[in-house]
Amino acid sequence: MKQEMMTIVRQQELAPKIYELVLSGELVKEIQMPGQFLHIRVPRSDLLLRRPISINQYDQDTGTCTIIYRVEGAGTKCFSELSPGNQLDVMGPLGHGFEIDKLNAGDTAFIVGGGIGVPPLYQLSKDLKAKGVEVVHFLGFGTQEAVYYANEFQALGETHFSTDDGTFGVQGNVGNLLMAKTSQPDAVFACGNNGLLKTVEQLYSKVENVQLSIESRMACGMGACYACVCHVPGDETKSVKVCEDGPVFQAGEVIF
Ligand SMILES: Cc1cc2nc3c(=O)[nH]c(=O)nc-3n(C[C@H](O)[C@H](O)[C@H](O)COP(=O)(O)OP(=O)(O)OC[C@H]3O[C@@H](n4cnc5c(N)ncnc54)[C@H](O)[C@@H]3O)c2cc1C
Ligand code: FES
Repeated sequence: MKQEMMTIVRQQELAPKIYELVLSGELVKEIQMPGQFLHIRVPRSDLLLRRPISINQYDQDTGTCTIIYRVEGAGTKCFSELSPGNQLDVMGPLGHGFEIDKLNAGDTAFIVGGGIGVPPLYQLSKDLKAKGVEVVHFLGFGTQEAVYYANEFQALGETHFSTDDGTFGVQGNVGNLLMAKTSQPDAVFACGNNGLLKTVEQLYSKVENVQLSIESRMACGMGACYACVCHVPGDETKSVKVCEDGPVFQAGEVIF
């Protein structure tokens, strides 16, 4: 893990309030697995806590990585106003991401994401595809305008979309998409809100390898403050830290 001033190479608005930001720096060399995140200081002295944002994709040859974020409050609004050449104080890579070692060429993986849970699944899907795994994506958004990376995911494999209002893909949520697909995969990877993760956990209770990226409020981002603790089923005395032990856990490993 490093802390460094990374340089903004490019920033563009992909959809209303959704930005793609490319950063360059040494810490890219330390990224080990998809699903890890960066902890970014907001360049405003009154906002003390860093903001955790997932790594969307990275390229160790060029030393660049990309994040995709939605403007929620003051911190992400401040990020959206930055331009190429500006610098950001970044800590990372942090956390334990998606494990793909157990999958082999010819296996099938379902990749499930909702809204702002979609970004880290892109590097994951690229890495699985490079191993010869067949990837099937199930992605949910609010409305057609909010959809991003449709072509990018489609280029990697079969991709199903849902929108809450039915303006793009099937009307409803990702659960509706999953229920329409009857086959069982070798592994499932999901990132999104707790409702989506619970649906995935229930629908694929018979699949051995189900990995969920859990969102939690964070402060330090590196295991020191206990702001992000989750309990472990069956043992009230045991807990895990989402920032350090996660954000990706096997289904059933933590209560969320
Ligand atoms: C591991 C992880 C990965 C994430 N990846 C992404 C991503 O790829 N793209 C993206 O758009 N968002 C992502 N988020 C959510 C993102 O961190 C929040 O939307 C962001 O911190 C909001 O900051 P703000 O100042 O704009 O909003 P405010 O609401 O003003 O934030 C106030 C405080 O709450 C915290 N906070 C607010 N919402 C969240 C949240 N949902 N999760 C955790 N902390 C929150 C902020 O860090 C800040 O300390 C991720 C969160 C986690 C934990
Ligand atoms: S955010 Fe401090 S321990 Fe996880």
